[in-house]
Amino acid sequence: MNKPIILTGIKPTGHPHIGNYIGAIKPALEMAKSPDVQGMYFIADYHALNTVQNAEQLRNYTYEITATWLALGLDPQKVIFYRQSDVPEVLELNWILSSLTPKGLMNRAHAYKSKVDTNKDEGLDIDAGVNMGLYTYPILMAADILLFQSNFVPVGKDQVQHVEIARDLASSFNHIYSETFKLPEYVIQEETATIPGLDGRKMSKSYGNVIPLFENAEKLKKLIFKIKTDSTPPTEPKDPSKSALFTLYKEFAKENEIKHLKQQYEEGIGWGQVKQQVFEVLNRELETPRKKYRDYMEQPKLLKEILQAGGEKAREQAQQQLRIIKERIGC
Ligand code: TRP
Repeated sequence: MNKPIILTGIKPTGHPHIGNYIGAIKPALEMAKSPDVQGMYFIADYHALNTVQNAEQLRNYTYEITATWLALGLDPQKVIFYRQSDVPEVLELNWILSSLTPKGLMNRAHAYKSKVDTNKDEGLDIDAGVNMGLYTYPILMAADILLFQSNFVPVGKDQVQHVEIARDLASSFNHIYSETFKLPEYVIQEETATIPGLDGRKMSKSYGNVIPLFENAEKLKKLIFKIKTDSTPPTEPKDPSKSALFTLYKEFAKENEIKHLKQQYEEGIGWGQVKQQVFEVLNRELETPRKKYRDYMEQPKLLKEILQAGGEKAREQAQQQLRIIKERIGC
């Protein structure tokens, strides 16, 4: 019996931070737990190439992300966990799909479009700083998704358009060559709040306001104490729904702890005390994964083996599907 496939890619372009964990890793691991689905999670290293162009850095990010997912509970026996570049069939499909992709569709893809807009605003050539990897990024992503007949694709809001493009390309292919691809659906984690960073804006590498996931306790504490707060005096009531610290706390604390802190906000509590509580809960929840992460990072050979084993499983399926596709197109 074929279970529905949940597939998602993780780009190795930076050190994993708390925003990544809450926004992407935690919900994806939760989804993969169900016995009724087949999870396929991969490190999208080819997608990273248009920004990370240093071999050692790319390799390190790849291992960090691999170790992070494993430390947080991904079970490679259950989820097919692989590295994109270990499945070269993806690139064959990438080319096939390129041949049916209207150029105009890529002109409208948001990452490219916003780069063009910035270039225009700055009076530069519209394509300044644009490589073909950025321009055709959505086609490679469609290949990732369609090659495995994925049913569901968990993504952040910024990736929805890309899944829609994958659907469009699947439909075009089906129309030209007969029904071949399933049309994938995106799944967005609506209920997760935007995780605020140190300055209160969304936690993001590009704002430089992140809290790395596996920082040691001392550094974690320092960072939490740096989170921006307002100047309400300690005794005055505070609104938890407007507090970055509370948002963070909620993601890690237990029900009764959340209730208790909420009450303290309403009665008035000093920011220093709030920060101490946030630190204690985050540190408690991250302590074990941090240890596991360090263990994995000391065993790059093991990480490589895990990815390779996953890659073999993925390739088996990829090869089968590619045979069908090539048959359909006459290759
Ligand atoms: N583009 C995605 C991101 O930046 C990563 C990605 C690559 C992906 N291929 C994918 C996500 C396929 C879902 C499915 O986050």
